[in-house]
Amino acid sequence: MYLESLSPVQKVDFAFYLIFGFSAFMLALLTCAAAYFVWRYRASRHPIAVDIKGNALAETIWTLIPSIMVIGLFYYGWVGYKALRDVPPDAMPVTVTARMWSWSFTYPSGKHSKILVVPLDKPVKLELTSSDVIHSFFVPAFRIKMDTVPGMKTYAWFRAERAGDYDVFCAEYCGDKHAEMLSTVRVLDEAAYTAWLNQPEEEGAEAGKKLMDAQGCFSCHSVDGSAGVGPTFKGAWNHMVTVHAGGKTLKIKADDAYMRESIIDPAAKILDGFDNTMPPYPDFPKEQMDDMMEFLQSLSGETPAGNAPVNDAAPRNGTAPVNATNPAGQR
Ligand code: CUA
Repeated sequence: MYLESLSPVQKVDFAFYLIFGFSAFMLALLTCAAAYFVWRYRASRHPIAVDIKGNALAETIWTLIPSIMVIGLFYYGWVGYKALRDVPPDAMPVTVTARMWSWSFTYPSGKHSKILVVPLDKPVKLELTSSDVIHSFFVPAFRIKMDTVPGMKTYAWFRAERAGDYDVFCAEYCGDKHAEMLSTVRVLDEAAYTAWLNQPEEEGAEAGKKLMDAQGCFSCHSVDGSAGVGPTFKGAWNHMVTVHAGGKTLKIKADDAYMRESIIDPAAKILDGFDNTMPPYPDFPKEQMDDMMEFLQSLSGETPAGNAPVNDAAPRNGTAPVNATNPAGQR
């Protein structure tokens, strides 16, 4: 059957154009009929109004025909909806996590990415969730628009038929930078996809720097010692600082624990001379926190290895070969 041979995208489009075409046709039909009746039964031509009572045939027709048309529209809408909901059993799962204001994608291998990279012509199942508020994962090219809800899993799937980059938007207003909550679906051929998947993940100070850049940290915190809304990151690591905490003034060391706390709950200890304006960021995964700590530490002149947290002792996949052949900063 013709319909079965269509992709979900084509089925959704079919329903859209059918309903759009039907609506346009009905608009034209009713407008013309109304204009005709205004002319045909105007007072000068038809001075005495006639009251028609009871016409079983007319009533049957105007009940049946619209019912059939509306059921038809529903049927094709349902076909498009089913196509988006019925995930092929061989679909590759990818977890999508939304947060204010970015998307992250986690692959079955544990690999993380800020853009969604998928192989050409393979079904991909997205399992979506949010770590803060409701967002909506919107990829117009694949006719996907699915809410991400904290504490809940939703799903969507697609099969990309052409290689290239496709836009991802957030389609649910979620705060200040909702409009900047963008990502990309990158469709690669099988070989390029496999190469990408097996490429070791960037980590450490360089990844921490990129992450902080992406989060907008540097608009308040400089890395070169210059003044800003917030304290500079340069030389901050492990230096003695004066902070205000719960009405008390303390002298403490800006160590790993303090830095982490200042990201998760900045209001807990406010550095002397600064206002409590930074929003809390309680939802960074541990690996990302570690990367950011490494970056902050790298700005202190201390060697990161000297003070590495215990949990970093276990090497993550592929670290050694990359660092050996590809010095930091060179990509
Ligand atoms: Cu996330 Cu709008």
